[in-house]
Amino acid sequence: MFLIGNWKMHGSFNEVTSFIEEVDKAPAGVDPVLCFPFPYLKNLALLLRAKGYNLGAQDCSDKPLGPFTGQVSASMLKDIGCNYVIVGHPERASFETDEQVFQKAERAIESGLTPIICITALGDIPKRVSLSFPCLIAYEPAVGSNALPSDLEGIAKQLKESAGQIPVLYGGGVNPENLKDIVLWFDGFLVGRASLNSTSWNQLLNELGH
Ligand code: PGA
Repeated sequence: MFLIGNWKMHGSFNEVTSFIEEVDKAPAGVDPVLCFPFPYLKNLALLLRAKGYNLGAQDCSDKPLGPFTGQVSASMLKDIGCNYVIVGHPERASFETDEQVFQKAERAIESGLTPIICITALGDIPKRVSLSFPCLIAYEPAVGSNALPSDLEGIAKQLKESAGQIPVLYGGGVNPENLKDIVLWFDGFLVGRASLNSTSWNQLLNELGH
């Protein structure tokens, strides 16, 4: 069971390091990953590993290297200790195409990272994911919403059928109160707001560890 914390553009270096001190160790059967903003990633991998966590980034370039000012390659992320990277997050939808998301996932895999490939609809899977990818799929239908989609159980079944062996995660308004209603339907969760606070993060972690 995966628990991916996506800090988006939140926090300071002090807040990130205090948060890591406060979080509980990974319970058996849970693979926690924390995705912090780029500037805070360096030197965090060992701290996280001591708690049984992996470090992730929130994006990478679709190119391996070159004259692309402001971009960060998947191999650079691997170099500073990341093992995961989110690609195609719906909050980035206006900056990238499905093909670029596919390429980002390929660059991640070539560099030894596991991409967490976001989709907002079942039909995105063939555009963004090759079923031979060692990756995770994160279904996130509505950014910023706290309401879970109706018939999420049915959607989860369809997603898992289409995804084959690839683990399917759900993201969007997951919190310690609603996690227990949906925990059985997915292989993990991508959490934004509830990952920013160590109390709610620890509640999520321990609920998944049951
Ligand atoms: P949320 O964000 O949990 O705050 O809805 C999840 C995400 O967008 O990754």
